[in-house]
Amino acid sequence: MKIILKIQRFNPETDDVPFFQEYTVEADPTDRLLDALIQIKQYQDGTLGFRKSCAHGVCGSDAMQINGKDGLACKTLVKDVADQDGAK
Ligand code: FES
Repeated sequence: MKIILKIQRFNPETDDVPFFQEYTVEADPTDRLLDALIQIKQYQDGTLGFRKSCAHGVCGSDAMQINGKDGLACKTLVKDVADQDGAK
């Protein structure tokens, strides 16, 4: 399924205010959100910055706002945050 991630971006050297940027990613419903972020960074936009470490829900370094709620990208499945259309 294709999902659309709307990610808040801000570069203090070039941006006056934060803005949202959309990325479309091919992902399986059982993929983790962290997998989608890694895919964006590797294949679409190397400037995307996010933190991660253990990738197993232990360290908490990939904590972020996901659909308005606090969560860990490595413990959040795509199917839990996206509709069949890829948005939620
Ligand atoms: S990367 Fe460690 S909790 Fe997600």
